[in-house]
Amino acid sequence: MQAALITNPRFLVEPFAELERLRAAGPLHHIEEPTGLRFWLVTRFAEASQLLKDRRIVVHRPGGQRISAVTLSPDVDRMIGRSMLASDPPDHSRLRSLVSKAFTPRFVEELRPRIQRLVDELIDAAEPRGRMDLINDFAFTLPIVVIADMMGLPAQDRHRVRLWSEAITESMSTQYEENPARDAKARDFVDYMRALIDEKRRSPGEDLVSKLTQAEEGGSRLDEHEFLSMIGLLIFAGHETTANLIGNGMLALLTQPEALARLQREPALIPSAIEEFLRMFGPVTVAPRFAAEDIAVAGETIRQGDMVIISLASADRDERQFSHAQTLDVTRESARHLAFGQGIHFCLGAQLARIEADVAFTTLLRRLPGLRLDAPLEAVQWRANMILRGLQRLPVAF
Ligand code: HEM
Repeated sequence: MQAALITNPRFLVEPFAELERLRAAGPLHHIEEPTGLRFWLVTRFAEASQLLKDRRIVVHRPGGQRISAVTLSPDVDRMIGRSMLASDPPDHSRLRSLVSKAFTPRFVEELRPRIQRLVDELIDAAEPRGRMDLINDFAFTLPIVVIADMMGLPAQDRHRVRLWSEAITESMSTQYEENPARDAKARDFVDYMRALIDEKRRSPGEDLVSKLTQAEEGGSRLDEHEFLSMIGLLIFAGHETTANLIGNGMLALLTQPEALARLQREPALIPSAIEEFLRMFGPVTVAPRFAAEDIAVAGETIRQGDMVIISLASADRDERQFSHAQTLDVTRESARHLAFGQGIHFCLGAQLARIEADVAFTTLLRRLPGLRLDAPLEAVQWRANMILRGLQRLPVAF
């Protein structure tokens, strides 16, 4: 039995040495936190991949009440509690199919010119200053604008997206915590979206929210809670994750100048470098689940109702799966990593995230060739979060 992992902020910001130790000891670990929370932690790639695809692994504790691994306050639940990521089949399939078309490679590829313009505008604004905080001046703004456009949110309201997203990030805990400021942000989301949905019903456009109102009228069952949760998830899921991919990847390059120089010389390697950032510094560290039945894995029995936390961060550094697994190799070919999950909840926005990151890295490296850290490495701070891993700030000069 191992204690205090996901309630230990030190582990959350720097988990890799501990995960390596656990992985060496075995694929499955029974953890009990000081809070009394008990769960199985899955640390090796083979078992992680197998369990993510196993239909007996679900997001709600089987039987009775809907209890998920992340405990949401009632206000935050209203904004995201019935999303596809918080649903098991058959609800999951129904919800996902309503929006999956908007995220097909062909559709998202059409967004590339818009993403390029946005990236150029953000760099135009920062260039004369010679420095910026890559997280707050760049990495957060890009996915917000992209998803706000897709949703048909008026430009003047985009700044609210970050506050709504914060409400969700701040509720990622396995324990219920009082937080009136977080709940106020969640209520603002619900009030705002109710009005927006009404507006799109009256005068629909080409955006996703309008399409969802039409799907609703076309007979697809989508109640208000599901509708709000759909928008809440899409705003949130595509936002901090993509921002953290840009931040985590850029920090890796700024601290490994030979990799940075290689990509500057050979920008064609950027897509494979992005897969490597995802593998080594994935923005989503875990997939929390429950066992719907008893499951035998690696000589242990996971009992029905047990919580199972699949460590994507650990699986993606498993030496059994990847050669020189702890080394950033921007030329690594076709590394099948788990940073976007696997199975029915595989990231719907993976292709969109890849395009945003591709345009961001390609353009930053081309336009700002002198890019360097603008603070001592020790001053670069990570945010401690149970599910997401990313930087508070990343000061850069160029
Ligand atoms: C680098 C960026 C991203 C990463 C690392 C990422 C990662 C993930 C992961 C790991 C999951 C599965 C979680 C689980 O199984 O518990 C997931 C699901 C999801 N992601 Fe992403 N994501 C990213 C960007 C995006 C974007 C841009 C969007 C859309 C705008 C998006 C939308 C979704 C949705 C809707 C789901 C739920 C899918 C389902 O339940 O069927 N993600 N993502």
